[in-house]
Amino acid sequence: MNQKIGILDSGIGGTTVLTEIKKLLPKEDYIYYADSKNNPYGEKTEQEINEIVDDIVKYLITDKNCKMIVIACNTATTRCMKNLKEKYPNIPFIGTVPAIKVACDNNYKNTLVLATPSTIDSLRTKELIRDNKKYDQEITLISCEGLANAIEIKNQEKITKILSDVKDQVKNKKIDSIVLGCTHYPLIKEDINKIFPNIPQLDGSFGVAKEVKRQLEINNLRNNSGKGDVEFINSK
Ligand code: DGL
Repeated sequence: MNQKIGILDSGIGGTTVLTEIKKLLPKEDYIYYADSKNNPYGEKTEQEINEIVDDIVKYLITDKNCKMIVIACNTATTRCMKNLKEKYPNIPFIGTVPAIKVACDNNYKNTLVLATPSTIDSLRTKELIRDNKKYDQEITLISCEGLANAIEIKNQEKITKILSDVKDQVKNKKIDSIVLGCTHYPLIKEDINKIFPNIPQLDGSFGVAKEVKRQLEINNLRNNSGKGDVEFINSK
C-alpha cells in the first residue's frame, strides 16, 4: 500500500515547508495537518505543546498509516522532537529548527533570529547557537509574541505593528541576515522586506526537504508512483 508522508503545524505555516518538500519529491503523497484550533503553539507550555502534538502524531501514524512524520513547526520541533523519537522509534521524524547553522556557515556577522517565545526560550535554540556561532558572529534573538497568530488569522495591522517593534529593538545593530525561525514567517517575507529592506531572509524549509528525501532513501521508503497529492486536514 502507498503510505503517505504526514506533515503537521499549528496552522498554515508548515505549508511553506510542504512546498519545498513537494518540489523535491513530486511522486510522494502527503497528509497536511493544520492545527489551527490550537494556534499559537509558541505561547503554550512545553507540556501543553507535547500533549497536543502527541495526539496529532498518534492520529497520523495509527489512523492514517503515515510512513514518516515531518514536524513543520519550529516550536513543536524544539519542544517535542526528543519525546516523539523515543515514543515511536520505528517511524522517521524530521523536524524544523531555526536556520542558525545556515546563517553561521554563510559567515553573516549580525544575525537576527525571529521566532515564537517558546522557540526562543528553548534549549534546542541555545544548542544551535553554541554549536554553530563563531567568535566574530553576533546573534540577536527576538521573541515575536502574537506574530504567528496574526499571520494565521491574516491580521495585517498587527503584523506591521509587531515587525515595527522588532525594528525598534535592533535599531542600533547592523543586521545583515534574518533567520525566520517560525514556519509562518516566510508567508510574510514581503512585509519583512519592507521593514528590513534587502536583508537576506533564511529559513529551514529547503534543508528539511533534503532531509526528508535522505531519510526516505535510508529507510527504503521512497515512493515513485504517487502524484504529489495532498490531503488537507484542519482541526478547526
Ligand atoms: N509555525 C510554528 C513554528 O514554526 C508555530 C507558530 C505558533 O503556533 O506559535 O514555530
